[in-house]
Amino acid sequence: MKIGIGNDHAAVAMKKEIAGYLEELGYEVVNYGTDSDESCSYAVYGEKVARAVAAKDVDLGILICGTGLGISLAANKVRGIRAAVCSEPCTARLSRQHNDANILAFGARIIGIETAKEIVKAWLDAEFEGGRHQTRVDMIMAIEER
Ligand code: RB5
Repeated sequence: MKIGIGNDHAAVAMKKEIAGYLEELGYEVVNYGTDSDESCSYAVYGEKVARAVAAKDVDLGILICGTGLGISLAANKVRGIRAAVCSEPCTARLSRQHNDANILAFGARIIGIETAKEIVKAWLDAEFEGGRHQTRVDMIMAIEER
């Protein structure tokens, strides 16, 4: 499975650690983020990963900025994207099981690397449950058509 990862300047170190962790878990990682600490705009990287997920260039996306907020807000502007900001594993798991989130986001200035790894593992191990959740996800996506 191919994971697209993106980040701004606030999350370069965490992005590198998470990319290495993903590879250890056996995932292929495509880096769409910045590798420089120079100040930049999270919207650029949120959109890049979102477009890669929407185009199916990658299966899922992971976005990291200072809070996870700006980068996920940008990603959620792309048609077909459901980006979820998670600061603990339970929400991450449920964002896959119930909301079919196709992008996970978190904040390098909010959580530590061990929590980030737990969140990533919980998210990737979980599967969308469909059923009543499919109906609700369909309702979210129908908003894009109005
Ligand atoms: C950058 O300073 C910071 O604003 C950004 O990483 C993020 O936290 C925004 O939501």
